[in-house]
Amino acid sequence: MLYDNIEIKDGELCFGGARVLNLAEKYGTPLYLADERKIRENCRKYKSALDSCGLPGSSAIYASKACSFAGIYKIIAEEGLGADVVSSGEIYTAKKAGFPMERAYFQGNNKTDEDINFALDCGVGYFVCDNFEEIEALDKIAGKRGVRQKILLRVTPGIDPHTYAEVATGKVDSKFGVAIETGQAIEAVKLALSKKNLELEGIHCHVGSMVFDSEVFFKAAAVMLGFAAEIKKVCGFEIKILDLGGGYGVKYYDGQGEIDIEENIASVAEYILKKAKELEISAPSLRLEPGRSIVADAGITVYTVGSVKKITGYKNYVSVDGGMTDNPRYALYGSKYTVLTANKPEEPANLVADLVGRCCESGDIIQPEVKFPESIERGDLVAVLTTGAYNYSMASNYNRIPRPPIVLVDGGKDRLAVRRESLDDLILNDII
Ligand code: LLP
Repeated sequence: MLYDNIEIKDGELCFGGARVLNLAEKYGTPLYLADERKIRENCRKYKSALDSCGLPGSSAIYASKACSFAGIYKIIAEEGLGADVVSSGEIYTAKKAGFPMERAYFQGNNKTDEDINFALDCGVGYFVCDNFEEIEALDKIAGKRGVRQKILLRVTPGIDPHTYAEVATGKVDSKFGVAIETGQAIEAVKLALSKKNLELEGIHCHVGSMVFDSEVFFKAAAVMLGFAAEIKKVCGFEIKILDLGGGYGVKYYDGQGEIDIEENIASVAEYILKKAKELEISAPSLRLEPGRSIVADAGITVYTVGSVKKITGYKNYVSVDGGMTDNPRYALYGSKYTVLTANKPEEPANLVADLVGRCCESGDIIQPEVKFPESIERGDLVAVLTTGAYNYSMASNYNRIPRPPIVLVDGGKDRLAVRRESLDDLILNDII
């Protein structure tokens, strides 16, 4: 099996120790299942690797854009991680869940004055400042409130992370951050240091997502430390924090590459220590912002088959009761997934068909050319694996389809974490 939390027992698919068929019956479909034990296990991998990496004060910050709901901030808080938040919505959810907001890092390339005020009201620990305008606006607003706000400065190191274009963010022409190469980053540092209501603690970059090439993180560290040395030389200021962002890749199908995260963290930290010495700067503490690698393999989505259309001589379709509304990743990025028939996982799978959703749009494909058992029919259950990251968080109400619930499973037990949207939820804001 793709992961150790997925198994087949008595001819049925089990996830996180729970029987998928039972859960589908209890909660209905489509259904997101999230394995709490797996999420905690993933958090602990990061925590122990960073605690023992030789750079004191290092920590992991969960990029909550990967999957944001109240329950997850509680888990993250308990596991001792920080939270990367990118909007007032994520800040509000984290705050309501009781997340310790001093461990929150507010990211994003366009924080409105409203967002800035809200984040300050909520006591967000760090702002990851993206541009000159934000530095000016935050300084002004913090000044009015009589607070001194801790910040990191987001820079673009100019690295191509060998990932797909939509998720590459560290290149010079990115919309995020200020470029080192053009000299704008050092100007932004000078500006931040001149502001009396801001306390610059470090620098941040994020090269991209789905990175399997471990070299990418070494390259990022090298460029960032070189920049830290330039800051010391030009401004006489030493950074305390080096945030290398997120991006570790996750396996979605057999045969896909893998990256040993713990090993990579240990060797990147070792490299940082060595390089800092060479550059005669103090070694900063390290921050990493994993999103996908915390939640992706902790999630599956379960659907019920509605129709099996065989267009003789052309192609076949298996339609289910969800679609691009709960998983837009194939439509957006052509992302690959592993698909199983949950009630017949052991039957030979010889029928090739596109797994499609219920939206009125031909592009509503969850996964093309999936192999299903010949006997697949209305009422069967299909499970798409590795849907824990960027599925619920990118879900929409296109075609006024309600979003599925999230059920947390843990060692065979289950509990509702997000309830299914109702038809009334859909018209909540409509003036009738
Ligand atoms: N930090 C920053 C500043 C980010 O922009 C991101 C992701 C992360 C951390 C977390 O990266 P991760 O560890 O999850 O790769 N919707 C796309 C992914 C977009 C990623 C955006 N930024 C997808 O479904 O593949």
